Amino acid sequence: MAEKYFNEGWFGKHPAFYEFASFFISPVRRRGVKMMGNKPINILDLATGTGAHAYELAKVGHQVTGVDLDERMLKKAKLKITKENGLQFMQGDGTKLAYRDATFDAATISFAMHDVPAEIGISILLEAKRVIKKDGFIVVVDYNHLKGSIGAKILYPIALLYETPNYKPFVRKTLDYYLQKAGLQTIEKKTFLGAVQFTKLKSRV
Ligand SMILES: C[S@@+](CC[C@H](N)C(=O)[O-])C[C@H]1O[C@@H](n2cnc3c(N)ncnc32)[C@H](O)[C@@H]1O
Repeated sequence: MAEKYFNEGWFGKHPAFYEFASFFISPVRRRGVKMMGNKPINILDLATGTGAHAYELAKVGHQVTGVDLDERMLKKAKLKITKENGLQFMQGDGTKLAYRDATFDAATISFAMHDVPAEIGISILLEAKRVIKKDGFIVVVDYNHLKGSIGAKILYPIALLYETPNYKPFVRKTLDYYLQKAGLQTIEKKTFLGAVQFTKLKSRV
């Protein structure tokens, strides 16, 4: 197992349950998929887990490579590969990717920032920035901050029951804090019932 390993929440220990719960958030994921645009592109799905987000992206024609540290999650992800969807999965550390600069058209990171300590989350975002093309973009999907959102306030105590200890500081700091620290500029932002935040970003110039 690589050294920077953060998947020790309840779901991380039970990938089959993660997979089951993930099924119910497929409609939420599709909002993030729409942000990628209609043209098929080459996408890196960072911290891909069981590949649920990668699968939704591939379903609409994108060429997707998913990377994750956790072999237990990747085992489930690989079951989603078909000849038609062309999905690819690799084991790797998102803070130290094996890809050259400007390899991908875009990167996605869904429900992973809240799982890791802030410095790791920011390192993953910086790597995403490095491996996308100059005119590329990143879409980050994660829990929304609590201020002014009833949906987020309802979800917060429930998520505390199953998320890693990194979840609480993440929600307090806000996803926007991580994005700013990584030098990313927001192009588009939306939420799902105020509870989940979708942000499309480019490198700040
Ligand atoms: C909550 S899961 C999210 C999975 C998936 N993106 C989704 O939307 O369902 C978070 C994932 O981040 C992965 N992860 C944590 N730190 C990582 C790192 N440094 N590099 C790659 N993956 C990492 C974990 O192994 C876990 O599979």
